Amino acid sequence: MTESFTPASVLVTGGAGFIGSNFIHHFLQTNPACRVINLDLLTYAGNLENLKGVEGDPRYEFVRGDICDSKLVAAILFREKIDAVIHFAAESHVDRSITGPEIFVRTNVLGTQVFLQVSTDEVYGSLGASGLFTETTPLAANSPYSASKAGADLLVRAYQETYGFPTLNTRCSNNYGPYQFPEKLIPLMIHNIIAEKPLPVYGDGLNVRDWLHVKDHSRAVEAVLKNGVPGGVYNVGGNNEWRNIDIVNLVCDMLDSKLGRSSGSNRALITFVKDRPGHDRRYAIDASKMRNDLGWEPFYTFERGIEETISWYLDNQEWVREVTSGAYRDYYEKMYGGR
Ligand code: TYD
Repeated sequence: MTESFTPASVLVTGGAGFIGSNFIHHFLQTNPACRVINLDLLTYAGNLENLKGVEGDPRYEFVRGDICDSKLVAAILFREKIDAVIHFAAESHVDRSITGPEIFVRTNVLGTQVFLQVSTDEVYGSLGASGLFTETTPLAANSPYSASKAGADLLVRAYQETYGFPTLNTRCSNNYGPYQFPEKLIPLMIHNIIAEKPLPVYGDGLNVRDWLHVKDHSRAVEAVLKNGVPGGVYNVGGNNEWRNIDIVNLVCDMLDSKLGRSSGSNRALITFVKDRPGHDRRYAIDASKMRNDLGWEPFYTFERGIEETISWYLDNQEWVREVTSGAYRDYYEKMYGGR
C-alpha cells in the first residue's frame, strides 16, 4: 500500500452531533500530532456536552458557526492551515425531513461544497427481500432527507470532476451508540422504556436496517481519509440486518433485566403506529470494498454494542434530560401529542 495521508490539522463539521463527536474522540486518540477544529452551529441535535472529555485538549478547538457561511469557512481553512475537511454536519432525521424539507436542502446540499463527505446508504433507496447496495448502485433517494444527501454526494462528485478537487465519499448504514439524539429508533426506545412511555413502532415493524456501532464508523472514516483513493465512494456497513420489531423486543428484554422489571413488561409498551410516508423497506450494505481495499471491518458485535449503549444511556440520564428539554420537547409533543 502507498503511504497513508497524515494530516496535521483537520476541520470537522458537525462535530457536536452524534457521529461527529464520536469521531473527534476517536481521532484525537489515534492521531496524537493532529489538531482538530470543530465547526458546529449547535442546532437541536448538537451538544457540547458530547465533547466534555476533550475540551481541555490543546489540540482541539470549537468554533460555533454555520457551514453555509462561506467567509467563515474560508477564514478557518486559511487560519488553521486545514489539510482535510471531514463533513458530518447535516440534518439527519427522516421524519423531520417529511414535515419540513427546506432546512435539509439548505444545510445538506448548499452546506456541502466539500471534501470527505460522510453520507448514508439511504441515497440508494430501498431494497426488496434480497440484495445489497454496492458503490455502483444507482442513487434512488425516497425521502427529502435522503434526496438532500444524494444531492450533496453529486456535488462532491462534481467538484472532483470539474475542479480536480480531491474528494472522498462514504455511505454508511444506520449507526447506534453513545450521544445519539433520542429521536432515532434505538435511543428513543431506551428513553421511552425508562420513562414507561409507549414505544411507537411504524407500520408492521418489519422494515430492515443494517446497524453499525458509531465507533466502527469512526474507524472507517479515518481509514478512508488516510488511505482512500480521491474521487472514491466507500460503502460502510455492519453486515448486521435487523427488523425494527426485533430490535425493539431486544431492547425491551435487556431493559427488563437491567431495570429489574418482570419479564415482558417492557414489550407491553410497544404500540404500532401509522407508517412513515414513503418508508423504505430494507437497507443493507455490501462493505467488501472497505474490507478488501482498506482492511477495515467492524470490531463490535451487535450484542456487545447494544448492551454497552443501553448501559451508557442508563448512566447518562442527565445528558438525556439536557438534550430533550426545550426545542426537542416541543417537536416531540407536536409529533406524538405529548405521549
Ligand atoms: P431511524 O432511527 O429514524 O433511522 P432511518 O429512518 O434513517 O433508518 O429509524 C430506523 C427505523 O425505525 C426506520 O425503519 C423507522 C423505524 N422507527 C420506528 O418504527 N419508530 C420510531 O419511533 C422511529 C424513530 C423509527
